[in-house]
Amino acid sequence: MKIVRTIAELELSGEVGLVPTMGALHDGHRSLFRAAGAENEVVVASLFVNPAQFDVAADLSSYPRGEERDAEIAAAEGVDVLFAPSADEMYPAGFSTWVDPGETGAEGTSRPGHFRGVATVCVKLFDIVQPRRAYFGQKDAQQAAVLRRVVRDLNLDVRIRLLPTVRDGDGLALSSRNVQLSKEERVEALALPRALARGAEAYTRGGDPVAATRSSFNGIPADYVELFEFDGLTILASALRVGNTRLIDNVLLKGELS
Ligand code: PAJ
Repeated sequence: MKIVRTIAELELSGEVGLVPTMGALHDGHRSLFRAAGAENEVVVASLFVNPAQFDVAADLSSYPRGEERDAEIAAAEGVDVLFAPSADEMYPAGFSTWVDPGETGAEGTSRPGHFRGVATVCVKLFDIVQPRRAYFGQKDAQQAAVLRRVVRDLNLDVRIRLLPTVRDGDGLALSSRNVQLSKEERVEALALPRALARGAEAYTRGGDPVAATRSSFNGIPADYVELFEFDGLTILASALRVGNTRLIDNVLLKGELS
């Protein structure tokens, strides 16, 4: 696996699959690398903790980093090129053009500016890498919805592929942020997948998934519980703050990932 730090050094040929990441890689990222490997000639993973998408400064400084381990994982999963640029490479002095995705649901309202940062860095990565397909996880469903719309609205020539959420045995969605949880917080965090599972059950019975999710939280103040739709998918999503860590999760109520 080649590690490339500058745009100028990035030389690619063949059909490319891109997996954008912020590192602290886990099995969720691994599943994206494998899917990209199965469907493309060349797999590029990006490793960039994008300062533009952090709405809270402390979250950026505490975000887990470890390039050596990330490079080992990426190489073991068949990534051909790891693109790991500096912040100056992506946002040089004088940078001032942004992709504003407009309406971005409850997650966007909870994190002002977040999806503008995500959309901008992803459009830049699509232009730099020129992938045929780019791979994203259902775990960040609102992010996927935003990027599908950006690709449509700006006529970008890339297919956004969506892969299912990978979970720990107890149901907690894998997240780079999970390492920040204490043992007690890790247990508290289970309220999120459990409440969403109650919501999904209610939906299957013809009930109100949002109300069922809220009542399952049993007084724990979730950031939001939201039902949203995009590309034929109906998704029930929620966000929960556990200690200093904010976790998001969702379940698919209708439709199939593609
Ligand atoms: P990051 O949080 O590193 O996630 C990279 C990709 O992995 C995203 O598409 C995310 O949805 C996916 N992912 C995370 N946890 C997952 C899980 N448990 N199961 C399946 N997929 C999972 O999302 C970002 O980085 C950034 O916003 C980025 C797109 C790289 C732009 O900076």
